[in-house]
Amino acid sequence: MYDFDREIDRHGTWSVQWDGVADRFGVSDLLPFTISDMDFASPPEVLAALRERVDHGVFGYTDWRLGEFREAIRHWYASRYGAEIDPGTLVYAPSVLSQLSQLLQMWTAPGDGVVVHTPTYDGFRKAVTGLGRELRGVPVGDLEALERELARPDSRMLLLCSPHNPTGRVWTEEELRVFAELAERHGAAVVSDEIHADLTTDGHRHIPWTRIAEPGRGRRWALVTSGTKAFNFPALSGSYGMIGDPDERQAFIRRMETGEGLASPAVLSLTAHIAAYRHGAAWLDELRAYVAGTMGLLRERLAGLPGVDWTPPQAGYLAWIDLRPLGIEESRLQEELVTVEKVAIMPGGVYGTPGFVRLNVGCPRSKAERGADALVRAAERLRRG
Ligand SMILES: Cc1ncc(COP(=O)(O)O)c(C=O)c1O
Repeated sequence: MYDFDREIDRHGTWSVQWDGVADRFGVSDLLPFTISDMDFASPPEVLAALRERVDHGVFGYTDWRLGEFREAIRHWYASRYGAEIDPGTLVYAPSVLSQLSQLLQMWTAPGDGVVVHTPTYDGFRKAVTGLGRELRGVPVGDLEALERELARPDSRMLLLCSPHNPTGRVWTEEELRVFAELAERHGAAVVSDEIHADLTTDGHRHIPWTRIAEPGRGRRWALVTSGTKAFNFPALSGSYGMIGDPDERQAFIRRMETGEGLASPAVLSLTAHIAAYRHGAAWLDELRAYVAGTMGLLRERLAGLPGVDWTPPQAGYLAWIDLRPLGIEESRLQEELVTVEKVAIMPGGVYGTPGFVRLNVGCPRSKAERGADALVRAAERLRRG
């Protein structure tokens, strides 16, 4: 029903991925597979709602508590996740990272430890260290290390990425319950960033933290997320969260509205969220199938590289690829990709794990194939040379 093959020229739209590629890679004429947004237009249902709102023409102050925003989110959680959320627990903020920044300031003090899984989304590292907190990484799957880090007396927060960026891992209910148990035992707050949740592949079920957090257990928890990742409208600015404890929730809203002076939300973001959550399910399911198809092609291409045993992620459009078996130095691979192949692909070192790359395939297949071919060619040349 929807055309994901159509290539849309994003040059000249102030796109970080396309127009800002030189900022990270030094040169501008690269085909980018970088920051986590997609080259697809948002669903037609979302575009129609935005047009209607724009045509109204008046963009005075708005309030996210008026109108259908909270009801649309409730409907989405019930229909996608079978989760009955309490719309009264919802909060609004300009972005997921702005929520994280507020929660870090509310629930931790400078010098405190924040426990994350490694590899780690670079936005987490910037937020945590930028606020003077210490990032304490534990490898995905290492429960002993997780317990050890949480047990340190000044570890005050477990910051989850669920599903996990960049590995694409969808945590099972059992794993999440262990995380909750460990956080509670050691008195750590839990912030669960679920911005990639709508992008799970078939066979992997996302469990929202609301189903894990139990009343009376661990007062300090928050689920932070938005529809911007799945429906591709991050530049409209807008996100929401759920904070279980009423006092913590009020404190958060107060900080946003007074300390940050952010009383009015981005009205086009509210419009887009409402349309996506009411009418975007069919588009999203087609997108997920399309991305899965692209990941399948990528798998075939990568199978030619000796020792590289890559399987598609359980969620998301980011391919996290372990190239360490090839023994190529990260800076050498990057140089080859940039100067010879003219592509921008994220080096694993950005996420704390050199030797991997993160290839964004949230794009028409024709472009994804060019990226995959460039990566395989560069890797083959360097392996031999
Ligand atoms: C895990 C995760 N959290 C947050 C963000 C950014 O969200 P926002 O733009 O709403 O701050 C991203 C974007 O890549 C992400 O991958």
